[in-house]
Amino acid sequence: MATDKITVLVTGGCGFIGSHIVEALVKKGYKARILDNLSTGKLENIAAIPSEDIEVLLGDVTDHATVETAIQGCEYVFHEAAIASVPISVNDPVGTDKINYGATLNVLEAARKYGVRRVVFAGSAAVYGDEPTLPKRESMPTNPITPYGVDKLASELMGHCYNRTFGVEFVCLRYFNVFGRRQDPSSPYSGVISIFCDRLVQGVAPVIFGDGQQSRDFVYVSDVVAANLLVMEHPDAAGRTFNVGRGKATSLLDIAHLLNDLTGHSLQPIHKEPRPGDIRHSIADNTALTALGWLPKVTIRDGLAELIEAIQIAA
Ligand SMILES: NC(=O)c1ccc[n+]([C@@H]2O[C@H](COP(=O)([O-])OP(=O)(O)OC[C@H]3O[C@@H](n4cnc5c(N)ncnc54)[C@H](O)[C@@H]3O)[C@@H](O)[C@H]2O)c1
Repeated sequence: MATDKITVLVTGGCGFIGSHIVEALVKKGYKARILDNLSTGKLENIAAIPSEDIEVLLGDVTDHATVETAIQGCEYVFHEAAIASVPISVNDPVGTDKINYGATLNVLEAARKYGVRRVVFAGSAAVYGDEPTLPKRESMPTNPITPYGVDKLASELMGHCYNRTFGVEFVCLRYFNVFGRRQDPSSPYSGVISIFCDRLVQGVAPVIFGDGQQSRDFVYVSDVVAANLLVMEHPDAAGRTFNVGRGKATSLLDIAHLLNDLTGHSLQPIHKEPRPGDIRHSIADNTALTALGWLPKVTIRDGLAELIEAIQIAA
């Protein structure tokens, strides 16, 4: 039987955040097409989603023809595919740029060519750099200090250029520190929370670089997905950039204490030398997104509890 479902492309749809977006799209009645090269993503991340509602294309977003094939017939695109690692971008700025900026341009150009209605881009708080003014507002000057941050900024600028010049609607979401199920804890480049959780569940103390007072605006993945789905169709979102953070800072020491509390451990963090270039504090002003109707629902404690449960089940 022919399907009249709207098709949405999710690049990086087998990854941590992308797989949750795919899941939510399918729940809302869309058909999701995934383009992923499985460099960090896994097919098992999408294994529980009904297969008739997803289409998986294994390929590289840096390949123009592949992106064109993937985008045809799609009304919306969520561009999540990237090397989601600041250290890798520092070690290999040229290789990372091909994916983190070059592929964005591929996606935008294919979106223009095939009349995609709107592209939603996975931006990053890394574009703010280490300027200490807090909280971060979207209107503040950007000053990225890593190739990762520069590529994210270049991508959002090009996206806004396509919005204005070619009429490809573009929305940038600047994610702060996303955490939740399916974030790969085995990668040394993974988010700090997934690494802490993985160690604590095994009864191993977390490692903290520095005094642990450094803080981040941790936001649970389901709230990030809700932000994506909100801006996908919202009439006031096109051509704009939004911070995606809870607007609350939590220190790494607080995370370690909460995890001890939730797991019944009393492990003392192991402190190591601070890492050069680590930003001390990061917190989002989320007024713009909340004005559109977004409300982060998951507290850090509840998110951590859900994550620990998922890790224990998988172990
Ligand atoms: N996790 C966070 O806290 C965070 C914060 C800010 C921004 N972001 C951004 O959100 C997006 C998703 O991040 P994530 O944490 O889910 O990372 P992830 O590594 O789990 O997901 C990235 C996905 O992209 C795929 N991919 C990478 N290179 C590709 C290529 N050349 N061709 C096709 N597919 C490719 C990977 O296989 C993976 O499935 C990224 O753009 C990342 O930069 C994440």
